[in-house]
Amino acid sequence: MKRLDGKSALITGSARGIGRAFAEAYIREGAKVAIADIDIDRASHTASDLGPSAYAIRLDVTDQDSIDAAIVSVEEKTGGLDILVNGAALFDLAPITDITRESYERLFAINVSGTLFMMQAAAKTMIKRGKGGKIINMASQAGRRGEALVAVYCATKAAVISLTQSAGLNLIQHGINVNAIAPGVVDGEHWEHVDALFAKYENRPLGEKKRLVGEAVPFGRMGRPDDLTGMAVFLASSEADYIVAQTYNVDGGNWMS
Ligand SMILES: NC(=O)c1ccc[n+]([C@@H]2O[C@H](COP(=O)([O-])OP(=O)(O)OC[C@H]3O[C@@H](n4cnc5c(N)ncnc54)[C@H](O)[C@@H]3O)[C@@H](O)[C@H]2O)c1
Repeated sequence: MKRLDGKSALITGSARGIGRAFAEAYIREGAKVAIADIDIDRASHTASDLGPSAYAIRLDVTDQDSIDAAIVSVEEKTGGLDILVNGAALFDLAPITDITRESYERLFAINVSGTLFMMQAAAKTMIKRGKGGKIINMASQAGRRGEALVAVYCATKAAVISLTQSAGLNLIQHGINVNAIAPGVVDGEHWEHVDALFAKYENRPLGEKKRLVGEAVPFGRMGRPDDLTGMAVFLASSEADYIVAQTYNVDGGNWMS
């Protein structure tokens, strides 16, 4: 028996990166997965790579109509949603004096409002169905403390940890477990973008920041998306029924160092 046999999952931001790795792992464990992403072309490619248990949905987590439509398509396609992963996020950095309102509003819209209103929509359909569910939010070590150049992103991830606590406490009465994963530094396209921004603001050659953060991880290297899938499957499975409102570091020891 696979650990997610017959389960229906929706993973936001799963066209690439960590979300994509979670989708692969959930499918290996028997789930059907909606690859829900604002980049529908990439989501469609990912879904076809992952085979018949994956299907693509165009989703903009900042748009309520898009959220509602995504939930309806999951209901129609699979009969009901069991697992939501909130993976969609945007990163930006700038010193306090250079932060723009546009960047602040966009990051909060995707990382915080997107997470909250996806949780709300998922909770409503899960409560109506009466079978409980699992919600997993993507936090970050950035949510555990501020960083000089990363004020807004850090604040969004602190908000994700807080929302996980409140939603976890509120929704467990319906058998819905809300928990989060806090990665450290995970290689992929996201970090290419992060590295380029640090290069600009810290006046470094491209690639240097990424190399340094990787070397600083006690495990000895940056994370890879697959390093997180064990926790993602565990939190989505019935083995995690008694786990409520927690955020787990999966970071090669980075937060402790
Ligand atoms: N990579 C890391 O080092 C790291 C570290 C800590 C936390 N995280 C978190 O893990 C999660 C996944 O990270 P990743 O590295 O795979 O990111 P990524 O940037 O590779 O992927 C993010 C995905 O979200 C999608 N997206 C962006 N805006 C959207 C919107 N409005 N609606 C729907 N989808 C949208 C993008 O198209 C993209 O496919 C994020 O929440 C990120 O903050 C990543």
